[in-house]
Amino acid sequence: MTRRRDAILREMGLAPLWRLRGAEPVEEAQPEPSAPVPEPVVAAPVSAPAPASRPVPLARFVPPDAEPAEAPARRPAPVGDIAGLGWDDLEARIRECDACALCKRRKQAVPGVGDRQADWLFVGEGPGAEEDERGEPFVGQAGRLLDNMLASIGLARGNDVYIGNAVKCRPPNNRTPETDELAACFPYLERQIALIKPRLIVALGRPAAQALLNQEVRIAAARGKLFEFGGIPVVVTYHPAYLLRNLADKAKAWEDLCFARATMKRLKADAV
Ligand code: URA
Repeated sequence: MTRRRDAILREMGLAPLWRLRGAEPVEEAQPEPSAPVPEPVVAAPVSAPAPASRPVPLARFVPPDAEPAEAPARRPAPVGDIAGLGWDDLEARIRECDACALCKRRKQAVPGVGDRQADWLFVGEGPGAEEDERGEPFVGQAGRLLDNMLASIGLARGNDVYIGNAVKCRPPNNRTPETDELAACFPYLERQIALIKPRLIVALGRPAAQALLNQEVRIAAARGKLFEFGGIPVVVTYHPAYLLRNLADKAKAWEDLCFARATMKRLKADAV
């Protein structure tokens, strides 16, 4: 293992766990991480996991079961033409948005950052204090962990990666965004997805997962499954801020990242 990768995994709190499992060291040039990769499992209604030797064809994605009684209601777009906006107009619209109460206390809206033609889209919850200050997502402590998580699977912010949030304005005191705030902001995320056309979306935490999947989500139950949004596979994992408080779950996040990476590899292979 190179020093740099070692440092990244240590920063994620993973290096000792990884060694305990007896995994072979990975050279930096080696493309795949060697931590165990869970086999992709298609989301409900398939009940049994796919046999390990026969991965589920990606074409067999099924949308997650809608649970109308619990599903957070997604409102239609607050303004009609978001779906037709290009990047500049979309970002301008986000910066001047007053579709929900979050606009009242923001310093600035945080549209998103990165490669606008990325294969990877990571979606967080919403800006925190530093993001509100700087106008860029994930620049605080959680962002540093996210950068390390990306690096652990050979990714970097801005390089084939776009990072956005489920809500673009900071919720006061970093509280969880309300359902109506997620709904009001969703058309912006939806338009970003339409413009980027990522191959894979990684939902970081529950609000992002719920916004994308339009249903109640428990991360612990949703991990290791493939969901979809508009035909694009969605993988769910823990939010970096949660991981900073729950160190034991970092190993699970590492598994999720390996799962996402294996899924991306298959998506690319299937596209050829
Ligand atoms: N947490 C998020 O979900 N998004 C950010 O941009 C920063 C912290």
